[in-house]
Amino acid sequence: MATDTSRKVVLASRPTGIPGSSNFRIEEEGLEALADGQVRVDVTHLSIDAFIRTTLEEESYHTPVPIGGTIMAFGVGHVRESRSAGFAPGDAVCGPVGARSVATVPAGMLVKADETRAPLSARLGVLGLTSGFTAYMGVRHVGFVKAGETFVVSGAAGAVGSLAGQIAKLDGARVIGIAGGPAKTKHLVEALGFDAAIDYKGEDVAARLRELAPDGVDVFFDNVGGELLDVLLDQIRERARVVICGAISQYQGDMSQGVRGPSLYLRLAERHARMEGFAVNHFPDRYGEAEEALGGWLARGEIRLDEHVEEGLERFGDALGLLFTGGHTGKLLLAV
Ligand SMILES: NC(=O)c1ccc[n+]([C@@H]2O[C@H](COP(=O)([O-])OP(=O)(O)OC[C@H]3O[C@@H](n4cnc5c(N)ncnc54)[C@H](OP(=O)(O)O)[C@@H]3O)[C@@H](O)[C@H]2O)c1
Repeated sequence: MATDTSRKVVLASRPTGIPGSSNFRIEEEGLEALADGQVRVDVTHLSIDAFIRTTLEEESYHTPVPIGGTIMAFGVGHVRESRSAGFAPGDAVCGPVGARSVATVPAGMLVKADETRAPLSARLGVLGLTSGFTAYMGVRHVGFVKAGETFVVSGAAGAVGSLAGQIAKLDGARVIGIAGGPAKTKHLVEALGFDAAIDYKGEDVAARLRELAPDGVDVFFDNVGGELLDVLLDQIRERARVVICGAISQYQGDMSQGVRGPSLYLRLAERHARMEGFAVNHFPDRYGEAEEALGGWLARGEIRLDEHVEEGLERFGDALGLLFTGGHTGKLLLAV
């Protein structure tokens, strides 16, 4: 039911480790009359993304949130009211709406979604900027994976990792995923069609990788960083590509002063290999291409991304914490 107030998640205290609900509080805000060019959206789902954790620090690559500030998040929902010619009540939309139940934003921040093509939540997953588009850019335009190559992805059972592995597989690579726990490795092989998976919590990753890829790794798509990056650098092949998508093992604390970096980076020189980082927003010219490819695979049932949905804005902090404890598989969402 439409209300004349919105509920929003604000930062109550900066977390010192894994964030939880005590770091946030819910505030109500009144809804004012729309200005020209604004659109009001009833938000249904928020994307719980790793970058949100970095915005909770005083210094951050992504704009830091002040204490008492509203948390930044991407979301989807339906237009309640519009003073923009491009949007009408009932339109399904997605965009950076913030962690709130009702968002009032400039029309230019929103993109319309066609719910007849895919469920609206897919706009945060397979067809989402921070999941599908990110995986697509990393595999196709940073890793340049080729058929027959050996592709390894860390954080493999999460949103970006699940999709990166499946895209590399569609491009003809042999795909090995690294994830925490037997349920996740089983999911990678049996549900997502990965060729093999390594449980970094229960297995010796270096030894298992030598068994599974005795000739070495052509492309490593890294979501985790830290020690795992060194383990992989030691096993890259000549002319390998190491794709730095993220480093979730390093996101707690002030990252502006540095994180645990690779000590085996000379393997790059020894093996004429390349390590390249990227952010998805470096590729705006390729969003259309990514949407077409991902939309086609989704429609043909060639790609899938399971969803883990937490319920309620009050659960925001605990939901964010799941990214760091591995308590979800696939895309992590919050139903508002
Ligand atoms: N470059 C870009 O533009 C861009 C855009 C979006 C996301 N990203 C990056 O992509 C990565 C994945 O993001 P996502 O949203 O798809 O999250 P996600 O993979 O759905 O969730 C994160 C996963 O990381 C694993 N993990 C957490 N802490 C770990 C640790 N210390 N060691 C090993 N694994 C750990 C957990 O799985 P386990 O159970 O397997 O531990 C967890 O499920 C992040 O690094 C994120 O920053 C980059």
